[in-house]
Amino acid sequence: MTFLDRVLSLGSLFVLLTCGRSSPHAPPQLLGIDWEQWAALNCSVDGHLHLSRPFELPCFSLFEGQAVSPDSAACTAVQANYTDPVFRSEHFGAYMQSQWETCQVTGASCLLDDSDPTNPAAYQSKDCQTGNIAPVYIDVQSVEHVQAAYTFSLKTGIKLSVKNKGHDYKGRSSGWNTLGLWVGQSHSFSALADMTFNETFTSENCNTSYRAITIGTGVEMQQLYAFADQHNVTAIGGYHKTIGTGYFLGGGHSILSPVYGLGVDRVVEIKVVTPDGRFRTVNECEDSDLFWALRGGGGSAFGVVTELTMRVEPQLTLQAAIIKFPANSSNLVSWYELMVNSSLRWGQEGWGGHIAGGSLIHVNPLLNQSAAQASMQVAIDFAVAQGGSGLIDDLPSWNAFFLKYVTSAEVPVGSEIMLGTRLLNTSLFATDSGRMALSAAITNVLPFASPYVVVGTPFLFPYVEGTTSVTPAWRTALWHLGLSGRFYFNSTAQDRQSEYTQIDQHTQVFRDLTPGSGAYFNEGDVYEPDHEQSYWGSNYEKLLEIKKKYDPYHIMNCWQCGMYSACSTRPVLNAFCSRVEWSE
Ligand SMILES: Cc1cc2nc3c(=O)[nH]c(=O)nc-3n(C[C@H](O)[C@H](O)[C@H](O)COP(=O)(O)OP(=O)(O)OC[C@H]3O[C@@H](n4cnc5c(N)ncnc54)[C@H](O)[C@@H]3O)c2cc1C
Ligand SMILES: *[C@@H]1O[C@H](CO)[C@@H](O)[C@H](O)[C@H]1NC(C)=O
Ligand SMILES: *[C@@H]1O[C@H](CO)[C@@H](O)[C@H](O)[C@H]1NC(C)=O
Ligand SMILES: *[C@@H]1O[C@H](CO)[C@@H](O)[C@H](O)[C@H]1NC(C)=O
Ligand SMILES: *[C@@H]1O[C@H](CO)[C@@H](O)[C@H](O)[C@H]1NC(C)=O
Ligand SMILES: *[C@@H]1O[C@H](CO)[C@@H](O)[C@H](O)[C@H]1NC(C)=O
Ligand SMILES: *[C@@H]1O[C@H](CO)[C@@H](O)[C@H](O)[C@H]1NC(C)=O
Ligand SMILES: *[C@@H]1O[C@H](CO)[C@@H](O)[C@H](O)[C@H]1NC(C)=O
Ligand SMILES: *[C@@H]1O[C@H](CO)[C@@H](O)[C@H](O)[C@H]1NC(C)=O
Ligand SMILES: *[C@@H]1O[C@H](CO)[C@@H](O)[C@H](O)[C@H]1NC(C)=O
Ligand SMILES: *[C@@H]1O[C@H](CO)[C@@H](O)[C@H](O)[C@H]1NC(C)=O
Repeated sequence: MTFLDRVLSLGSLFVLLTCGRSSPHAPPQLLGIDWEQWAALNCSVDGHLHLSRPFELPCFSLFEGQAVSPDSAACTAVQANYTDPVFRSEHFGAYMQSQWETCQVTGASCLLDDSDPTNPAAYQSKDCQTGNIAPVYIDVQSVEHVQAAYTFSLKTGIKLSVKNKGHDYKGRSSGWNTLGLWVGQSHSFSALADMTFNETFTSENCNTSYRAITIGTGVEMQQLYAFADQHNVTAIGGYHKTIGTGYFLGGGHSILSPVYGLGVDRVVEIKVVTPDGRFRTVNECEDSDLFWALRGGGGSAFGVVTELTMRVEPQLTLQAAIIKFPANSSNLVSWYELMVNSSLRWGQEGWGGHIAGGSLIHVNPLLNQSAAQASMQVAIDFAVAQGGSGLIDDLPSWNAFFLKYVTSAEVPVGSEIMLGTRLLNTSLFATDSGRMALSAAITNVLPFASPYVVVGTPFLFPYVEGTTSVTPAWRTALWHLGLSGRFYFNSTAQDRQSEYTQIDQHTQVFRDLTPGSGAYFNEGDVYEPDHEQSYWGSNYEKLLEIKKKYDPYHIMNCWQCGMYSACSTRPVLNAFCSRVEWSE
């Protein structure tokens, strides 16, 4: 009997099961499904089904057109912590890029003013609307809960979305009219928040053993780094404290990636509930095709991950270069030129880091302090000449670097930010003509935005060909260059459209410079043209085959999660609020 047959034969049981109390707010129907069926689902997930509430609702006195009482204490807490990533990650209705809470087509939303969350213009006499937040969700506590959600989806046709920490730039973790699976609530479920360190982790049915850390899917970066530090090892990961599992599934760049590889390069085993209902442990020996697909296929395309194991490095001492100066329209041009001219040498020496406007933070695990100083002197001299500063800081560990430089100055969240990005070939940096062409492109884009450069490609990492499914362009690139744009809580539909269009147009210049290269799925343009080619390149066809094998009923879907329109037996999840439709 197939999974589908089993599900359908269970159909009549569905309505009969009615354990669990029902919420006092339970509507007669939700998403066209009678409440008894939701109550039965609630029963099969041990009472962990919840009706969603927009994060900002406590400040409003209208909710979906109905009068409600504002909760001023809760509103004050939301206002005070509006841009705090930890606070946001603890609320199902909150996203790091807050436009993904909203329906960008209709404008249905419930946002505050991120520049001043106490600004009453955002919430007084305004209707708070659920927008793109899944209206109902399961706070997933077990494998069985995920299986129950798959069964429910097959039975009812209700589509699923998977949310972890809500960092996504492409809106893949929210979804208008979906049933949400929240897998990121680490504080309330110990298994999802578990971490174990193993000196000799051996993947199931494999011979190879690794020094490794296993994390539940609710674990976030700052917890991982602190845990690794306690065990005197280094975990390689992203540049923000609350990033979750989506990082490892879509690629994962770190400023240590030039030496130690991408997130996907470091994963050695994954536990996943595949959409065919099976709970699998996958690695290079077990379901190795799925293991490959999960390492770069991205998002929830291949199922719900409950746990993953990654290799760790010994404790590292790092040299950190911290350079900044007051930027203006003329010194920025020569600064970026200097960056373009110096990056290849820095890459060969083991540096990785970020460059954003008049600021550079890089780290190096290979050089000693005097060599690091000599290597970076040209950039330090530049900054000092512009009235800025530069220093090389000798740090005892990655965790020490993270606490000193990242958590204290990380990217703000809670704004309506979107990206356009491109992986820039190493070859561009190797010739005069390549460097001049790149510098000219940057100079032209400066009046629009200062590029955010991530020097976090696996430049020196000894990659074993064919082991991950991210676009092979990662392996031949030196920079992951990004442009960002934004709109506001009160932007008009035209403003939103125009911002997306401008990002796309300015990013196109960098696409044109790098034919055949690609982009990072986790940090891409919402309207990335030919996205299958950009995000997966020559890996796409094989991913599509694996998708058909493990998700035969096409349960899992999300925006540009690829692999869908081509094999869809169900309508593509066209969560019409997920994006602005006009340019698709
Ligand atoms: C401030 C900020 C800083 C960032 N810094 C970096 C960085 O340094 N390096 C980098 O590479 N990226 C970075 N990113 C991008 C980040 O890697 C992606 O946003 C990533 O998708 C986040 O994963 P998440 O689980 O936190 O987010 P979510 O939005 O919750 O999920 C992202 C995607 O992964 C899927 N997903 C999450 N968990 C699971 C699971 N357990 N099973 C199945 N599917 C799952 C979701 O369905 C969704 O498709 C940053 C993002 C932000 C907002
Ligand atoms: C699900 O069941 C639990 C426990 O019985 C109950 O507290 C909760 O309100 C129910 N959820 C919904 C959405 O009805
Ligand atoms: C949120 O803000 C309140 C002030 O209203 C503060 O006391 C509280 O500690 C903050 N919570 C978090 C999790 O940051
Ligand atoms: C480490 O992994 C090995 C093999 O994978 C296993 O037998 C052992 O129990 C693990 N140790 C810990 C502390 O988890
Ligand atoms: C494990 O090692 C044995 C003996 O060296 C070898 O025969 C076998 O093929 C290996 N298995 C795997 C899965 O690599
Ligand atoms: C931590 O690891 C480093 C690098 O492997 C090693 O030199 C050091 O002795 C270790 N420290 C402790 C306390 O074990
Ligand atoms: C960068 O290199 C180009 C060409 O190699 C050269 O013309 C230019 O002066 C250099 N600029 C800086 C700031 O080093
Ligand atoms: C630092 O590294 C350089 C280059 O490898 C080497 O020549 C130098 O002796 C080292 N300095 C110290 C203090 O170890
Ligand atoms: C930019 O800053 C530098 C250094 O402070 C200064 O010399 C230069 O005049 C400034 N240029 C502009 C256009 O403001
Ligand atoms: C850039 O990289 C891509 C992808 O790896 C490759 O197809 C292309 O040929 C490269 N272009 C140049 C000019 O090296
Ligand atoms: C949006 O709100 C800001 C701050 O209150 C205000 O300055 C701006 O004019 C508003 N924009 C629109 C389009 O209403």
